[in-house]
Amino acid sequence: MSATSITIHFTLNGEHVSAEIEPHHTILEVLRQQFALYGARESCGQGLCGCCTVIVNGESVSGCLYLAAMADGGEVTTVEHLDASGELDVVQRAFIECGAFQCGFCTSGFILMSRQLLDRNPDPTEAEIRHFLSGNLCRCAAYPEIIEAVKLAARMRRSEGAVPA
Ligand code: FES
Ligand code: FES
Repeated sequence: MSATSITIHFTLNGEHVSAEIEPHHTILEVLRQQFALYGARESCGQGLCGCCTVIVNGESVSGCLYLAAMADGGEVTTVEHLDASGELDVVQRAFIECGAFQCGFCTSGFILMSRQLLDRNPDPTEAEIRHFLSGNLCRCAAYPEIIEAVKLAARMRRSEGAVPA
């Protein structure tokens, strides 16, 4: 602990936690280095690719830019929370079904964003899917499969009764 370190307290994937951080630490650094949560990844490091996406207080943020100190008292959700029950989330199942990844580096960001989209709009058009995911980049160019996976997840949610058909 240095003279400049501070303690933050927040809810992480449903559990109350605390962390000793430096003011310049990003939430991505804290999640990976202190909580061994590796789903969010750093790629561009500039808020341009979405690989580092995490949810803070219900909104997606670029974990590579979002200062951990800003999460103090808040609620942080990572992709690891989606299958915390022991079963894959419907979006995760749809990505597997559609083969919506190649190297997988971008996948957790796409899955978190897709889940956010479907929570807000259970039956998005393709244009709405493309628009909502436009901040996420896939260097393997798995975009067609990703779009199909989001459409499939929307259908699966309706057929499984998660949202009105
Ligand atoms: S690594 Fe954060 S947006 Fe690219
Ligand atoms: S699957 Fe490789 S970057 Fe998207």
